[in-house]
Amino acid sequence: MRKKIVAGNWKMNQTPQEAKALCNLLKDKVNTTEVDVVFCVPFVDLYPVLEALQGTNIAVGAENMHFAESGAYTGEISGAMLKEMGVQYVILGHSERREYFGETNESVNQKTKKALEYGLIPIVCCGETLAQREANITIEWVRMQIKCALAGIDAEDAKKIVIAYEPIWAIGTGKTATSAQAQEVCAAIRQVLTEMYGQAVAEQMRIQYGGSVNAKNAAELFAMADIDGGLVGGASLKEEFADIVQYK
Ligand code: 13P
Repeated sequence: MRKKIVAGNWKMNQTPQEAKALCNLLKDKVNTTEVDVVFCVPFVDLYPVLEALQGTNIAVGAENMHFAESGAYTGEISGAMLKEMGVQYVILGHSERREYFGETNESVNQKTKKALEYGLIPIVCCGETLAQREANITIEWVRMQIKCALAGIDAEDAKKIVIAYEPIWAIGTGKTATSAQAQEVCAAIRQVLTEMYGQAVAEQMRIQYGGSVNAKNAAELFAMADIDGGLVGGASLKEEFADIVQYK
């Protein structure tokens, strides 16, 4: 049985002071061992959030990292930096990074490998645009994204990876994929993982759904056979996040 994982993606929200306040608002309500709970926060919020969540079961994640060890990459953050701080997860290949910051399948692959090297758990994002969905190429597209992101990664490492399926048309739009639409793609992702790593490994890997997850739709989405939790944007910045964590 896969343990559900509910992660908040704060995106570019919350100053360090606001981050502390949000942790204090949420931490008792989401401090559970029933599901894995992760707060993925801006780099400057990592210290205050790690401090505020000390002594809880809530893990902390970053929203991006660089694929190099260290060096002349002005403005970037390395896996070593995150690891040393006590960060456990890192979101990689979010569609907003692909769209606005030139993230490619290749860089996502490099970053995923580097994160694993540092013992960070990558949350690897994939998902189609509305045009791709309407052109009926969703499954093909997502399969390709997964194959590229995980290329050259062995089964032992793959097991640790969390995949987040986020249809771009559902992000921040209030337009959630239906549970059937989300399940269809998550099942297709598990299928490609089965082809790459075999059934035993694919069955262990967790696949989240993301895109306008809220307190009302979480239970139905998370009940689907291949959906192992959610990557939550807007609703992770509010008390509503607690209701999503306690979706049952
Ligand atoms: P929303 O939940 O705001 O739609 O964002 C989803 C997302 O992009 C999480 O990574």
